Amino acid sequence: MPAALEAARARSAARIAADVHTLARPPFTADPEAVCRYAYTPEWTRTVRWVADRLAALGFAVSDAPLGTLVARNVPAGAPSVGVGSHLDSVRRGGAWDGTLGVVMALELARLDAELGLGLPLTVIAWLEEEGAGFGRLLLGSGLAVGDIGEAELRGGIRSLDDGRPFWDVAADAGHDPARWRDSARALDGLVAWLEPHIEQGRVLQDARRPLGVVSAIAGHAHVDVTLTGRAGHAGATPMDARADALLGAAELCLAAEAQAARRPGATATVGELVVEPGSMNVVPGRVRATLDVRAADDAVRDAVLDGALAAGRAAATRRGLAFEAAERARRPAVRLDPGVRAALARAAEREGAGGPELVSGATHDSASLARRVPSGMLFVPCRDGVSHSPDEAADPRDAARGVAVLAHAAGALAAAEGALSTMRKGTPSPV
Ligand code: GLV
Ligand code: MN
Ligand code: MN
Repeated sequence: MPAALEAARARSAARIAADVHTLARPPFTADPEAVCRYAYTPEWTRTVRWVADRLAALGFAVSDAPLGTLVARNVPAGAPSVGVGSHLDSVRRGGAWDGTLGVVMALELARLDAELGLGLPLTVIAWLEEEGAGFGRLLLGSGLAVGDIGEAELRGGIRSLDDGRPFWDVAADAGHDPARWRDSARALDGLVAWLEPHIEQGRVLQDARRPLGVVSAIAGHAHVDVTLTGRAGHAGATPMDARADALLGAAELCLAAEAQAARRPGATATVGELVVEPGSMNVVPGRVRATLDVRAADDAVRDAVLDGALAAGRAAATRRGLAFEAAERARRPAVRLDPGVRAALARAAEREGAGGPELVSGATHDSASLARRVPSGMLFVPCRDGVSHSPDEAADPRDAARGVAVLAHAAGALAAAEGALSTMRKGTPSPV
């Protein structure tokens, strides 16, 4: 390992810890007890600007991306570079590390590049609205960049979870120009590879006592909105055999989803939102809206879990005299990451004493979008007890600092393979 990178390790860990800590507190979160920032909230806008200002101070040009995805390059627009980053938005009661760590590691890589004269051609990206906490659609920014989402959805189908307004109007009110949405694809200009560092959100690395892991594939997901409609009535005066209780139908759907996933190893099914109407202690529930999230590394398995859960939910609804409607919000396939990028990350990890078998990601990531257009890879940093999407998320900045060194080696190798190191950055030969 180059001595310069090794000597920078403690400095990197301290800076990563400080950045993550800063961004986990007001004014960068709307909730002082958790991280809460999603697209177009003041906290999210402030966070993006905080990162952009630091990249600009390092000499990066921050692009005029149309909808708020942060794109900053240390090469001319369109010139070959390696993309590095993740997302800065969170779930509504999230932790400090999901997404943010990946952007903070990219920022630290940019700092090391400047300090050590690594000569890496970099594009740092923080994708808009990965979590769907603002608009109910995962991977919104990266999906726009690769063409998964189009104008009709922006104008109508994708709406604010807070007030139901179309994405288009909310983005315009936040000072963006949604009519330029096609320019989202410009984020990919010149990318020879995409590297996304992220906390693992599982406990494979912790259990194996490994500081880092390279990801082989990202599980696919399906999101479905289910509505069960029965009959509201008096909780004391409606006999048990004269009810059409929508919540009891939803309860059967929850249990069916659990049973379907449980008998297929690696699959998951989650009912994460349940809205009970009218929602009174003394009223039989007349209507319930539920979300169903199903994931698996194998698309056929995911579909079997989803179909099984919906069929059981529908059967329970019929038995209980309820109407049952299911509307699919999104269905994304499992994605294998690029063999060449994975190999570059694996070699770099080996060099940093962090080799080991690859892992599958159960969570989804912007890399699942990116992989369709750019050779993409992910590097996982362990997180304590695998806890994520929770204020209890924790990770060790020293693992992340080692991860930054791995990114430096891998980005150097990938850029060199494309001839991008010597042609695009003038300066000292790269020590990576
Ligand atoms: C994103 O974090 C997801 O996998 O839901
Ligand atoms: Mn994430
Ligand atoms: Mn997440």
